[in-house]
Amino acid sequence: MTETEALPPPNPMAQETTKRLLEKLGGRHLVLVGLMGAGKTSVGKRLAQRLGLPFIDSDHAIEESARMSIPEFFALRGEVEFRAGERKVIARLLSEKQQVIATGGGAYMDAETRARIREHGVSLWLNAELPTLMRRVQRRQNRPLLQNADPEATMRELMAKRYPVYAEADATILSEEVPHEIMVQAAVDALLAFLDRTEHHEDQPT
Ligand code: S3P
Repeated sequence: MTETEALPPPNPMAQETTKRLLEKLGGRHLVLVGLMGAGKTSVGKRLAQRLGLPFIDSDHAIEESARMSIPEFFALRGEVEFRAGERKVIARLLSEKQQVIATGGGAYMDAETRARIREHGVSLWLNAELPTLMRRVQRRQNRPLLQNADPEATMRELMAKRYPVYAEADATILSEEVPHEIMVQAAVDALLAFLDRTEHHEDQPT
């Protein structure tokens, strides 16, 4: 390993917030929601690493259990069946032991899935602006919903429809083109702020 590749020394502040977050989660899952290209997988993986938890991507889990890729699934079975499979797979992931779960962009739109996430986890919305999303999704051709003549118009429609629902998530961060570590720290801080708020709220006499 060269000097430039060496891991940064452990940051005591980061270690402290990580420990507090784990304590306050009390075994609940951390669930990332947001549009395609919001960075759920890349932030989720690093967040999991920092917390020492397993990471799972719901799209991946669907691909594994269906033994086909998401584009194949949409082409062969259609979106309605995909959504049913997605609901089932996320219910299964939420019944497993604590992990960081990145959900596919449409998953949180399902009321049943939202209720399950609320029951078994703490949710984080990665809110991103259109140019950020478009820059990221243009890198790969693996999103069936965007395989059309005007993916940007589709993305705008999805933002209009989904953002009010994503806003129901427990915590939110703005997903920007900044180093991943900054996003991860923002996620930890937003989650802790939510957990502190709810804890204090529950402490109030009625
Ligand atoms: C979808 C998002 C995708 C995948 C599928 C549908 C959506 O996941 O589940 O293509 O409806 O927004 P990512 O958000 O991980 O790209």
